[in-house]
Amino acid sequence: MKHALLAWLFCIAAAIGTLGARVPVSRPPRGFATTKGRSFVVDGKPFWLPLLTNQRDIEATFKEMRGAGIKVLRTWGFNAINTTELPFAHESGLTYYQVWDKDGWRLNDGPQGLKRLDNVIQTAGKYGIKIILAFTNNWIGYGGSELYVNWIAGASATHDVFFSDRRIVESYRQSNRVPNFQTQRSPVCAEKYVKTIVNRYKHSPNIFAWELMNEARCRGDLQGGPNCVAGTDLISHWYKEQADFVRELDPHHLITTGGEGHFYKRDEDIGYWLNGQWISDYNYNGQAGEDFDLDLTLDNIDFGTYHIYPQFWYGSTLDKPDNENFTIEDWGLNWIQQHADSAKQANKPVILEEFGVSGLQNKTNIYPKWVKRALDTGHSGILPWQFGMLGLKEAGGQRYFKYDDRLIDGASPNDGFAIYKNQTAVWSVFT
Ligand SMILES: *[C@@H]1O[C@H](CO)[C@@H](O)[C@H](O)[C@H]1NC(C)=O
Ligand SMILES: *[C@@H]1O[C@H](CO)[C@@H](O)[C@H](O)[C@H]1NC(C)=O
Ligand SMILES: *[C@@H]1O[C@H](CO)[C@@H](O)[C@H](O)[C@H]1NC(C)=O
Ligand SMILES: *[C@@H]1O[C@H](CO)[C@@H](O)[C@H](O)[C@H]1NC(C)=O
Repeated sequence: MKHALLAWLFCIAAAIGTLGARVPVSRPPRGFATTKGRSFVVDGKPFWLPLLTNQRDIEATFKEMRGAGIKVLRTWGFNAINTTELPFAHESGLTYYQVWDKDGWRLNDGPQGLKRLDNVIQTAGKYGIKIILAFTNNWIGYGGSELYVNWIAGASATHDVFFSDRRIVESYRQSNRVPNFQTQRSPVCAEKYVKTIVNRYKHSPNIFAWELMNEARCRGDLQGGPNCVAGTDLISHWYKEQADFVRELDPHHLITTGGEGHFYKRDEDIGYWLNGQWISDYNYNGQAGEDFDLDLTLDNIDFGTYHIYPQFWYGSTLDKPDNENFTIEDWGLNWIQQHADSAKQANKPVILEEFGVSGLQNKTNIYPKWVKRALDTGHSGILPWQFGMLGLKEAGGQRYFKYDDRLIDGASPNDGFAIYKNQTAVWSVFT
């Protein structure tokens, strides 16, 4: 116990030492991405790459991306499971980086863990492609924030505590052993998440940018709670604190939010009529959680990200004949324009980081218009969700990963938004 306490104090002292350190202002090393005003270039996104175990498939994918002109891809730097899922993970070869149980999380930096991410990051470099790496997920997919909530705050906790509970914030960024969350195992300073990931790759020119979280919102698969409501700016505060923390660890790589780009137009009620009723739009009224204009002004947020999924976000309210601007297409065009305007104001780059509509015909009709608007308004990157690969050989081209994600006949997972080379009309929009 005493030993544990000493180790604890050492961890805390080391943490304070890091936080207090001044970051030298210097030029990034050769090959690192930087911003100049609103510029850099981008695009692609196979989140499933680190789930593959076959090097031939990984190389074939990078080769195809390079052939398609892709410079940057975005993938998950998180992959967490419960301890009860371990037998399945071992049986199926599933990639996992963190294992949670009542004692907190343990890092898996072995061959089924971070070694796979190491390999993807290293192989990317071989093909001249850089990576945007996200530290966690707002949603339960591949672990993420709700495992922190579940195991630290308890099964009845709401989603918002991910951003407000100090034990969770500390577990996310630098230690899996936090006050009131002690165990019999002696604390190991080497077990830290954001800190582990950043320290592992901070010298790599193959990293394009760090991303604090995929799609941070006040609610997730769990319900929201009172800490994160319009006006609290909870997510903006969280972004600032985490971006500053990452900057202390790594002075050179770019940092971004990974957010969907919600606005908080404090003085305006933006909305729409539905069945004779005025609906205040949660993407503009602060309810979703972000404040894109404010977040982009944060010192260590180097560029903005946003996503577009109007069919998911508005369901059947879209494409109503009496509201000409509330078609999928127009809603997206406005959203693109508004983010471009905000980025111009902040003089920082912005990327259209994910987007999707269902159906091949909808994609073929709408994507060229969205892409054109993004290019016309000075976007620095366009990342369609998501890059699809055909002809993967692993496990004979059939493999179940997790959730609904699987390889089928050699095709990478398709959630309805994957874009494969044989969908020639859509593919050619991007190539
Ligand atoms: C594992 O995690 C999920 C997601 O939070 C949760 O729903 C589930 O109950 C957990 N399983 C166990 C055994 O704790
Ligand atoms: C649609 O947008 C245009 C341009 O912003 C505007 O002039 C028009 O009034 C809008 N129409 C509706 C029905 O909101
Ligand atoms: C195309 O979009 C419309 C409007 O949201 C939707 O009703 C339709 O189902 C979509 N088509 C497909 C094939 O998903
Ligand atoms: C593209 O290939 C996939 C996987 O083989 C197949 O399921 C799909 O039908 C093909 N699509 C087209 C448009 O040919």
